[in-house]
Amino acid sequence: MITLKTEREIQLMHEAGKLLAACHKEIANLIKPGITTTEIDQFVEEFLAEHGATPEQKGYKGYKYATCASVNDEICHGFPRKTPLKEGDLVTIDMVVNLNGALADSAWSYAVGEISEKTKTLLEVTKNALYKGIEQAVIGNRIGDIGHAIQSYVEPQGLSVVREFTGHGIGPTLHEAPQILHYGPAGKGLRLKEGMVITIEPMVNEGVWQSKMDNNGWTARTMDGKRSAQYEHTLAITKDGPLILTEQ
Ligand code: MF3
Ligand code: CO
Repeated sequence: MITLKTEREIQLMHEAGKLLAACHKEIANLIKPGITTTEIDQFVEEFLAEHGATPEQKGYKGYKYATCASVNDEICHGFPRKTPLKEGDLVTIDMVVNLNGALADSAWSYAVGEISEKTKTLLEVTKNALYKGIEQAVIGNRIGDIGHAIQSYVEPQGLSVVREFTGHGIGPTLHEAPQILHYGPAGKGLRLKEGMVITIEPMVNEGVWQSKMDNNGWTARTMDGKRSAQYEHTLAITKDGPLILTEQ
């Protein structure tokens, strides 16, 4: 079922999203060679607690951490761990903030120290792909227009779009209808309506789009061992166009 949100509900989700954005800003300053993703995860828990919020991912379907921390060839749902990040690594931190019952979901990829030109391109294209998708999130467009804009931007640059994980409706629960594919034909699927709140969260790979699942049952990594990046925002469909809720 697709839930349409009132202005008030969107406002509350925006508050959660602003806090999430502030948390990402702090993370950006913390990330450097030597830090562990466990330390980042603990930072996030404390930061949210200090601001009266909780990490929605913790306990979600048995997931144990406040964040997902996916390094290099990990596509998503990487577990925070005690291995220090190294110069040249790429890490995606994904989190869902619950503030007074309102949710916001945003993932961001970070460079650890100096990264290669190839990884810089991957990050840049993935971030641009997110905004290409957001541009299509206007009343009257169809859901397929979002995925099409992303895929037709990414693939000509020799990179691929992950198929197995999608964006989603959000609030009051984390994963709601509709599913937002990051690929596919334009002009297909549901029409976007005022009051819908969705995530757009393209994962882009250097090599093939296929993934394999780790034995932990959560972490997806690229089939060919090449790198993957992800940027995600939560946004509302409004009369004035897409309103990004996970920006400060
Ligand atoms: N933020 C993730 C998403 O975009 C949530 C992952 S589910 C979790 O859907 F269980 F890993 F937390
Ligand atoms: Co999400």
